[in-house]
Amino acid sequence: MSIADGGVPHREGRTLMLLPNPPEDGQGPGTKASGKVFYNPAMAGSRTRSVLLLRHALDEGFLGEGTVYALDGLTASGLRARRWLNELPAEMSERVSATIVDLEEEALRWAEASHDEFPPSHGGGILEPSKGDLRSVVLRSGRHWVDIDPYGSPMPFIDSAMQSMARSGVMEVSATDTAALTGSSRTALMRRYGARVRTDSLAHDSGMRVMLATFSRVAARHDRAIVPLLSVWDSHHLRVSFRVLKSVSTANELEDSIGWRVHSPTKEEVSASIDAGLHHNSSVVHLPMHCMLPLKFPIDRSDPRVSGPLWVGPMGDRDAMSSMTEENALESSGPEFSVDDPIGWDERRVEAERRGVARSVRHISEESDVISSSHLVVVDDLAAWLGSGAPPSPRRIVDMLNEAGHSAGVSSYGRPSFRANAPWEAIVEAAMSIQPPM
Ligand SMILES: C[S@@+](CC[C@H](N)C(=O)[O-])C[C@H]1O[C@@H](n2cnc3c(N)ncnc32)[C@H](O)[C@@H]1O
Repeated sequence: MSIADGGVPHREGRTLMLLPNPPEDGQGPGTKASGKVFYNPAMAGSRTRSVLLLRHALDEGFLGEGTVYALDGLTASGLRARRWLNELPAEMSERVSATIVDLEEEALRWAEASHDEFPPSHGGGILEPSKGDLRSVVLRSGRHWVDIDPYGSPMPFIDSAMQSMARSGVMEVSATDTAALTGSSRTALMRRYGARVRTDSLAHDSGMRVMLATFSRVAARHDRAIVPLLSVWDSHHLRVSFRVLKSVSTANELEDSIGWRVHSPTKEEVSASIDAGLHHNSSVVHLPMHCMLPLKFPIDRSDPRVSGPLWVGPMGDRDAMSSMTEENALESSGPEFSVDDPIGWDERRVEAERRGVARSVRHISEESDVISSSHLVVVDDLAAWLGSGAPPSPRRIVDMLNEAGHSAGVSSYGRPSFRANAPWEAIVEAAMSIQPPM
């Protein structure tokens, strides 16, 4: 009797799989699927974005011209790598050799059983299971693509993974130690990431920036530099995706991208931020809610207004993000209904999955144009800061800023917010014209 006998078929995106038990709905961080295979439907969006990012990287040619060696480092059900192979177009999938790694033999057996039962629809790509500790398996050969999706902190895996990177590759790293990264567990944050984070409504943004700063320092130790492609806070996890490039000279410029975020900055701090190119030029008549400061700025690290050291550069790449449209997501990962659906899903179920796929990229392409801007503004904070009553809708304020000739976009950040490439006074003016002070 094979392991697949008695397996429950399931679908995520366009890809079919077998699980030991039916997945539960609405799962969060603590969920470990029954049997020894972890499957968390709450990470479906992250896996959809991973397919799209790999597609973009292959399109742009930054993974070289030959075989792309990809590693799904902590694979569990194998679904992430299987989705790459199944949901990429055939000519791209054929270039990918994916290794799936897990400590659990049983997880890999289920991944193989799923792959045998439901191979990629176009037949392309290679899937190779490798049982063992990621920290040693990853060093066996060079990789163009490494995915690290652990329980908790990714820190134990970063150094060896960084050493395995080809001259030009991509790493995607998730973290579920969100309490540490967002500053609630201060000692864990300091111990793992050497940083502090102010626990405010930008704490998840700061947490992702702390991840990028930490990984860029690891990269520099191995003569590499990172270039962020996408940073996403999605329910219980934070995830950053970045290019890794072998370049001693860029690695030497590391400190240009690292600094501090200061809440309620003084005039002097805002001026220093403008001088360092970290803040949109403004009259400093209205002081913003926060600004970034360069690493060299004399900071009092015990000042509760300060978060960092963190990444002060853009957290994403305009082209990569603009490729993440709902249309592209549905084209690559949206299932199609058919009356003889192989796992018996009805039209409603297929439609719900398509909606999930579309939702996973919501606002990302819109945000791409303004991802380098200095303002990420949570509208609740803005209303409180200005004493202007009910918060404006992000869409409304974005439209007003765009009409006034600035560039702004609704943000994919997990709180109602927008990014704007505009002087702070223009943001204040737009907010006030929507809702004058009480
Ligand atoms: C959070 S789950 C991964 C989820 C998976 N990436 C996905 O998209 O569904 C973490 C997995 O890492 C495995 N694991 C934990 N420590 C490991 C290590 N040192 N080396 C390899 N696998 C490990 C666990 O067995 C578990 O299956």
